[in-house]
Amino acid sequence: MKIPLLYEIEKTIRNFFKKPKDFCINEKIELYRKLSDAEDVSGTPFVCQPTLLLGKGKIEFGENVRLGYFPSPYFYNGYMHFQTQGEKAIIKVGSNTVINNNFIAIANNASIEIGESCLFSYKVEIINSDFHNIEPDKRHSGGGGISKDVIIGNNVWLGSSVKVLKGVTIGDNSVVGAGSIVTKDVPANTLVAGNPAREIKKIW
Ligand SMILES: CC(C)(COP(=O)(O)OP(=O)(O)OC[C@H]1O[C@@H](n2cnc3c(N)ncnc32)[C@H](O)[C@@H]1OP(=O)(O)O)[C@@H](O)C(=O)NCCC(=O)NCCS
Repeated sequence: MKIPLLYEIEKTIRNFFKKPKDFCINEKIELYRKLSDAEDVSGTPFVCQPTLLLGKGKIEFGENVRLGYFPSPYFYNGYMHFQTQGEKAIIKVGSNTVINNNFIAIANNASIEIGESCLFSYKVEIINSDFHNIEPDKRHSGGGGISKDVIIGNNVWLGSSVKVLKGVTIGDNSVVGAGSIVTKDVPANTLVAGNPAREIKKIW
């Protein structure tokens, strides 16, 4: 397994210029990298927060993706979690997308596609499956629940602590207010908020 990390380049540059600041260079990042078992990872995100990449599916990062942010809440007090379950599972993150601290994406036998130039605040969670059946007698057996693709367009801003659930598509340029739970599609250029998230207004 090879997970390329731009922070290594930054480390080399900082060492060369003997700069004392060493954020984005951290033993915990290294530890989480070692714990990562993802088999199919492509791209070179700038990793600024301990990041776990797990599972047998595909994880693809575009150009200039940033994972973690300083200074922002939870910096080095938590981690980023990308997990694919099943070989059909895919997580894609488009170029120039910035994802703040303590992000979670879990794709179960379907995809989570995040567009380009998105801004995700801290504690955002995207899951494309319920993971368990709602029927009481089937709930405890593994591998249950429905999985459906989640698609997030370009230039989408998700506020802090937003949750996006299975099957949701969010259109380009849309905004989701802090603390919202998105259960239904959001058209492009639309602000939604609340639990469940409802349209507040068109952005233009
Ligand atoms: C989404 C947001 C940017 C919208 O701001 P805005 O355009 O100024 O919206 P307003 O404050 O005028 O609110 C419009 C309506 O939406 C509601 N609303 C706004 N944000 C909401 C939220 N997060 N959850 C529930 N309702 C919300 C308001 O109560 C108001 O309802 P009303 O018309 O019934 O009075 C802002 O509310 C927000 O969530 N900011 C936090 C973003 C964040 O997480 N930043 C972290 C750093 S990236």
